[in-house]
Amino acid sequence: MTSNPGAARPKLLTVIGARPQFVKAAVVSHAIAKDARLEEVLVHTGQHYDDNMSGIFFEELQIPAAQFNLGIGSGSHARQTGEIMIALEEVCINAQPDMMLVYGDTNSTLAAALVSAKLHIPLAHVEAGLRSFNRTMPEEINRMVTDRVSDVLFAPTDTAVANLLQEGFARDSIVRTGDVMFDAALKFTEIAKTRSTILKQLDLQGKSYALATVHRASNVDDEAALRNIAGALAALSQKMPVVLPLHPRTRGRWTFETPKNLTIIDPVGIFDMYRLESAAQLIVTDSGGVQKEAFFHRVPCVTLRTDTEWMELVEGGFNRLAPPTAITSILEACEAALASKPDFSAAGHLYGDGDAAGFVARYLADWISGLKEK
Ligand code: UD1
Ligand code: UDP
Repeated sequence: MTSNPGAARPKLLTVIGARPQFVKAAVVSHAIAKDARLEEVLVHTGQHYDDNMSGIFFEELQIPAAQFNLGIGSGSHARQTGEIMIALEEVCINAQPDMMLVYGDTNSTLAAALVSAKLHIPLAHVEAGLRSFNRTMPEEINRMVTDRVSDVLFAPTDTAVANLLQEGFARDSIVRTGDVMFDAALKFTEIAKTRSTILKQLDLQGKSYALATVHRASNVDDEAALRNIAGALAALSQKMPVVLPLHPRTRGRWTFETPKNLTIIDPVGIFDMYRLESAAQLIVTDSGGVQKEAFFHRVPCVTLRTDTEWMELVEGGFNRLAPPTAITSILEACEAALASKPDFSAAGHLYGDGDAAGFVARYLADWISGLKEK
């Protein structure tokens, strides 16, 4: 455990643990370092731990090494959440942060939010107000509880702001920021183009293949849903090459015959992922982050879910929902997306101006100094 050597600067304890959180925290951590009014202490819960689910993101996105890695690993919801809470409570008691920052909707987010609330550490939540309105989704519970105990709600979109107001949150606790994942895409896509050799490795021509990702529990842990997804991707691969970087949750359940034109690979780092996304003709996914990245890279998207937290993309015709209830309906959505010509340039600033991270860093520094003056 560390003491507080830089006691002059307020201490912000950031808790991350899963792949999408590394992407989000990268740009905010860089902005905090630049602003220099805060000391950031990074805690990695260890929820994701394989090198291609964690280490590679720290390396490529130049995230400073976490001062604490709780090493929690995989487990049931209760075990994972509980073990993170127990370990994080001890870190907080020793490190005495002035504030805590969490991202998104994973079990790491929920556990950290509960610890901060119980220890009376002011809490800020990046990606507040997102709702799928589907309470069978573990992430929906994590978001709702995290928002409820947060002091600062960093809402990425107008829809997120509206959701929070609708749920009765105080207007002055909600801050519309734009989306930090948009900042990350702006910052790293060009670098990815020069660094990644994935297209060559997989012998892919630009704008002639589909990229797919599948990891949502409702799709992977439901045998029929996963069979429909596998069947649809196999059928799509008769039309165009399909690349599927497979999440470890899905790898364990993938028992299907895989046609030659459907290439399954291990999860890739963010440079390869941005490259695969930006050169794809179609993206098929159940990921929250990948739906948005499809839009950032101006690629039509099919989302293998009944609902989404990013409805503005569906309403704008950039994304189509295709619940995995049948192979044919997924394929129809893919055909429609391929035939569509969404006007990406007319979408406006749905996700901000590309400096959401800078805004969050400045807001936090101002906010903590305001708290200290009280
Ligand atoms: C978690 C989040 C989900 C997020 C996703 C991002 C929760 C409830 N879910 O889902 O919201 O979209 O991360 O990817 O927090 N595994 C490995 N190696 C790893 C990590 C996981 O093999 O480095 C395997 C384990 O078998 C584990 C399974 O993947 O049981 C699921 O991991 P877990 O972190 O529990 O959930 P995700 O599906 O990754
Ligand atoms: N991602 C990646 N490699 C992969 C799959 C995803 O770098 O093989 C990135 C993706 O570009 C996005 C983030 O991981 O930035 C999304 O994470 P994920 O889909 O695991 O979670 P979600 O966004 O659904 O919570």
